[in-house]
Amino acid sequence: ISVTDFQNQLLDWANAQGRHDLPWQQQPTPYSVLVSEIMLQQTQVATVIPYFERWMTSFATVESLAAADEDTVMAHWQGLGYYSRARNLHKAAKYIVDSCNGEFPCDLKALEAIPGVGRYTAGAIMSFAYDDYGPIVDGNVKRLFCRFFAIEGQINSSKVVNQLWQLAEQYTPSSESALSNRNFAQALLDMGATLCTPKNPNCTVCPLQQTCMALKLDKVHQLPTPKPK
Ligand code: ADE
Repeated sequence: ISVTDFQNQLLDWANAQGRHDLPWQQQPTPYSVLVSEIMLQQTQVATVIPYFERWMTSFATVESLAAADEDTVMAHWQGLGYYSRARNLHKAAKYIVDSCNGEFPCDLKALEAIPGVGRYTAGAIMSFAYDDYGPIVDGNVKRLFCRFFAIEGQINSSKVVNQLWQLAEQYTPSSESALSNRNFAQALLDMGATLCTPKNPNCTVCPLQQTCMALKLDKVHQLPTPKPK
């Protein structure tokens, strides 16, 4: 399968079957994408939705978050867990205001300089906020790529992780492409969340079933190779 066929099959599927009504998909800005992606890192979509909505009501802009006091910020995170995420988000807002004149950078390297922003979140901001080239590899993408390319080896080993990022770089539409990076990134996440699920993946309705290497080798249930206990 060619890279463009892979992209088009994902995009056609997402157009018909993907999620289009999530609150962070409505008028995404770099700030709203940062907030939603940090919340979604360790928390399910259904749990995140009300937290995201309250957060964006209370801290509508990166300036208002930067100016808020720590206790107010932490109170809005209460119940989401992994509280360092909230402290980092606050730190990130102050950094944008103090060191970037309140303007989010718009390239991957500069985005990764924001406190708490790694390669995934930088890619997500490029894709979702700017609709520009931004490869993303999260748990969903890892699983989908490990199966599609029949990648053996422990899912969190640096060898496999490097390989997955290389594939993400290669398979993400380039800036010159007419395809939407925003739709492509959402399609990858939606496929991983709804079809290429950890247990009982829905291969019979998957748009990639003709070319999935794990399916061809009857290894869908063995891949990805779990991390050691
Ligand atoms: N998980 C991580 N990012 C997501 C997004 N933008 N939409 C749905 N699920 C996600």
